[in-house]
Amino acid sequence: MTTKTVLITGALAGIGRATSFEFAKQGFNVVISGRRADAGQALASELAALGGQVLFAKADVSIESEVESLIQTVLAQFGQLDIAINNAGVEGTLGAITSQTESNYRHTFDTNVLGTLLLLKHELNAMQRQGQGSIVNLSSIVGQVGAPGAAVYAASKHAVEGLTKSAALEVAPLGIRVNAVAPGPVDTDMLNRFVGGDEAIKNGFLSSVPAKRAASAEEVAKTIVWLAAFGSTYLTGQSVAIDGGYTAQ
Ligand SMILES: NC(=O)c1ccc[n+]([C@@H]2O[C@H](COP(=O)([O-])OP(=O)(O)OC[C@H]3O[C@@H](n4cnc5c(N)ncnc54)[C@H](O)[C@@H]3O)[C@@H](O)[C@H]2O)c1
Repeated sequence: MTTKTVLITGALAGIGRATSFEFAKQGFNVVISGRRADAGQALASELAALGGQVLFAKADVSIESEVESLIQTVLAQFGQLDIAINNAGVEGTLGAITSQTESNYRHTFDTNVLGTLLLLKHELNAMQRQGQGSIVNLSSIVGQVGAPGAAVYAASKHAVEGLTKSAALEVAPLGIRVNAVAPGPVDTDMLNRFVGGDEAIKNGFLSSVPAKRAASAEEVAKTIVWLAAFGSTYLTGQSVAIDGGYTAQ
């Protein structure tokens, strides 16, 4: 068991929610963050029933003042931030590049890229003062390969990969690790929105995955916990594909 403190953004659904449970089961102090206070408090109660210390802190990751006060809240409550899982993300409006809009680009990049940058900035400030820490950003297989019909989302996740590598290089001498995970299809609300709620489209997509299925959120969560907390202390600047073999093709 451990008394380390972990922050998880976008914790109220999907992969973030599953990751919160995995960390809570391992005995971490868990700070869950999201934008809906009622759902946040309800999840905090569920997690606290597992026995550890849990705090919900409301924040929109695309707004710097909210990110800054989120990190201050973690430090005020637990004294330090050992691990951060920068998970909040949106797929935006999908469709061919010829149908894309400036507002969709700004919304997607504000959440996925600016959000990750702001979190890294304030998390690394805290971790540099501590002299230790570990961060995992949520990329995607489409942060590593192209995605026709999802170019804006794919570009935003390629940017997350660039932020991850650059941040890792900036802080490697300080004993702080920064990595990413790049999931393939994961059985969450996002995947269902991605395929427009159409089972036939979903099955067509899944047939292109060597493992012939989506990952569960719990499978992804277990890898995130391993990478952030228990993975090799020499592993940094990497993006670990959790994709049933998709990017090995
Ligand atoms: N589901 C997949 O197939 C899949 C695959 C690869 C990568 N991912 C990535 O994994 C992460 C989690 O995805 P998911 O499937 O759990 O999605 P989800 O939509 O189920 O959950 C995402 C959570 O992030 C929150 N969020 C969105 N914008 C936010 C903001 N500005 N501030 C704070 N919270 C915000 C949402 O409210 C939601 O609770 C995302 O970064 C996503 O891009 C998902």
